[in-house]
Amino acid sequence: MTMIINGKEIAQKLRDSLKNEINKLKNTYGKVPGLAVVQVGNVVASSVYVKAKTKSAKEVGIEVIDHHIDEKTSQDQLLKLIDELNKQNNVNGILVQLPLPNHINEQVILDSIDPDKDADGFHPLNVGKLSIANKNDENLLIPCTPYGCLIMLQDIGIDLVGKNAVVVGRSNIVGKPMAQLLVKESCTVTIAHSKTKDLMDVCKNADILVAAVGKPKMIKGDWIKKGGVVIDVGINRIEVNINGEIKNKLVGDVDYEEAEKNASAITPVPGGVGPMTIACLLRNTTIAFKNSC
Ligand code: GUN
Repeated sequence: MTMIINGKEIAQKLRDSLKNEINKLKNTYGKVPGLAVVQVGNVVASSVYVKAKTKSAKEVGIEVIDHHIDEKTSQDQLLKLIDELNKQNNVNGILVQLPLPNHINEQVILDSIDPDKDADGFHPLNVGKLSIANKNDENLLIPCTPYGCLIMLQDIGIDLVGKNAVVVGRSNIVGKPMAQLLVKESCTVTIAHSKTKDLMDVCKNADILVAAVGKPKMIKGDWIKKGGVVIDVGINRIEVNINGEIKNKLVGDVDYEEAEKNASAITPVPGGVGPMTIACLLRNTTIAFKNSC
């Protein structure tokens, strides 16, 4: 029987434990972690994510400082806002929702966030620390999606040591930090991408396959090793025809129905990685708060 990895449930456990911890921190320090959420413009997917992140943060007791600003905001104006947030005492974490409008250089913005307040773990200093630090370091600010994937793998209790892990996708947000985390767990890691030769054969060798390419159902069922574990990071909106009616549907990067036949465990879309990303953002904010106390 294939195990369906319930990201919703695992994320709920993490949020419950954070809520508890934040309550205790409030009693100890008389204040709670603060998260500044910056959204530039109105990209629909970003609005959905920001709304979900804000709601979850408030539910665990984090104070949200919301900055939803105009799409035409200049890079200098955004840098000025971040400078203010860097200095603001009630802000422990800063999240700038990506993507940013084309006239703004994302890396310049990410570099300007105080590394101690880097709720996404995207600042070069935190990227470097992730590469160098011991895996038991509890103070690291780690990119939320890959860390959420790792927590799911740990939650289902699979032994990662010596396993062949294939990460499909080499983004700074998911692919590269995912590979770092899996190396720390003593996996043998391959980062595959759009230029990888014989991608199917590479995937077929994966005891653990993490798909983060952003292409609906690109990874086919027969690319999955028998008994492999599949973590599907993709959240793609496609149109499907249901009884003559065109409807929107969310699908992952993996052809779930086919992959399920070979995998020993697999994350669904939705309800897999998505909720974990948000829970890990709350975790980073709490860590940043504790580091500041
Ligand atoms: N856009 C897509 N994923 C993310 C994320 O994890 N953090 C931020 N800030 N923007 C994103």
